[in-house]
Amino acid sequence: MTNRQARELRVHFCKYGQDHVFKFWEILSEDEQLQLLQQAKSLDLDYLSNIVDGLLHSNARRSRVFGTLFPARFVKFPNSEVDWQKWKEAVTVGEQHIANGKVAAFTVAGGEGSRLGCAAPKGMLQVTPLKKKTIFQVFAEKIRAAERKYETSIHWIIMTSERTHNETIEFFGKNDSFGVENIHFVKQGQMPAVSGDGKIIMESRGKIAMHPDGHGGALKALGKSGMLSMLENLGVETISYFQVDNPIVRCIDPYFIGLHAKNRCQVSSRMIKKLYPEERVGVFCERDGRTCVIEYSDLPKEQAMLRDSNGDLVFCAGNAAIHLLDVQFVKKFNGSDLDSEVTYHVAKKIIHAVDQFGNTIVPQSPNALKLEMFIFDILPFAERTVILESERLSNFSPIKNSEGLDSLKTCQQDQLKLFTKWLLAAGVDIPSDENGLPPFDIEISPMFADNKHDFLKKWSALANKPAIAAGQYIE
Ligand code: UD1
Repeated sequence: MTNRQARELRVHFCKYGQDHVFKFWEILSEDEQLQLLQQAKSLDLDYLSNIVDGLLHSNARRSRVFGTLFPARFVKFPNSEVDWQKWKEAVTVGEQHIANGKVAAFTVAGGEGSRLGCAAPKGMLQVTPLKKKTIFQVFAEKIRAAERKYETSIHWIIMTSERTHNETIEFFGKNDSFGVENIHFVKQGQMPAVSGDGKIIMESRGKIAMHPDGHGGALKALGKSGMLSMLENLGVETISYFQVDNPIVRCIDPYFIGLHAKNRCQVSSRMIKKLYPEERVGVFCERDGRTCVIEYSDLPKEQAMLRDSNGDLVFCAGNAAIHLLDVQFVKKFNGSDLDSEVTYHVAKKIIHAVDQFGNTIVPQSPNALKLEMFIFDILPFAERTVILESERLSNFSPIKNSEGLDSLKTCQQDQLKLFTKWLLAAGVDIPSDENGLPPFDIEISPMFADNKHDFLKKWSALANKPAIAAGQYIE
């Protein structure tokens, strides 16, 4: 039975020039044969060869169109009375939207954390300075706080991948989902790694090298898993999207949501001003009258370095990877008019691969093309978008590296700076250095407040205000 299926599949793979996948079939154990059969059956070779062929042409096309890039327009952080009035109006709309159950939270947590060198899912990383709460717990508390404040329920969808799925579910199970009642897990799709000439790479004699299909895989994963229909039935209109690597994000932000809803946007995004030209963040741009994100690795150097007469970066709108997605718009990427419009990006990687003798080796130079979709590639299809500026400290401090820039240490320092800023604004006398960092660890629970505005309100209402000293936890 196994051999017959293998023969048939082999013929099929041969048609696409991929029969090397079965090169070591005869010497595989029965278990290995079964595993390979399962993997091979799950691949759509027609789809794969179309993508690989298409990418060769689109790369050439992309480099030609870079000359027509313009910096994206964005809504600036409010700094005048008029701005604050508009801010208030948007907050009111956003609060109604949340209270009416029209918002769901969505975390992409399928990445492999290779730069961080962390084996466990990133969301399990203990990130808060004092209580050492995990990223998942921090998000859970922010969502619960919003539910409590707006007397509503907020569904939380977490996208995992083959590698992070079981461990993530087990972790939430053990922790009683950190008190979140409506939680859903969706596994993203996978793609095979291919060589420069489009051949599927084998990571061992009987195993195809597979990897997650990028956070853009969320579009299909939400559709296939039935989540979009569920959200639609619940009356949810807006998906609040954020990445697992950014614990400081405001998961549910009434101002951002209000602007998005008021303008009937299909996608909205948060931007932070880039600090320096080489900062590893994508940049919001305009091309052919549509908003798009150009990845840091793709933005030509002369544009990345360009400065205006004040010395400010012209292409300054950094992608904080915080988006609002309209449910009906996401549906269009599932069996509707925009179904196959989001294409793949290619990253060259070094991965384990078998050589011609069947030995697994680690090459010295990149041997594999990883094919990934990016969520922000839906932006150019949106007719209405808002790009909203954010103060960096109140929304963005990602953990990407094990040390140095964008690490656990910088994220913990940013949390401490943020808490100190709120306390100072409330008139509390708290020492801090020239960077705003206090000399000791303190922590404010998201259940108390996850933003300055709410903090000031709650703090002023406290009858017995705690003295702020080392180890103080405000909850
Ligand atoms: C990303 C953005 C960049 C943005 C920056 C902000 C891309 C390509 N670029 O860069 O524009 O300025 O974040 O921090 O995204 N993930 C999945 N499944 C996958 C791949 C990734 O869930 O298949 C999740 C990861 O868990 C991670 C997030 O997506 O939380 C970002 O992915 P990553 O590849 O680390 O992007 P960056 O290069 O950091």
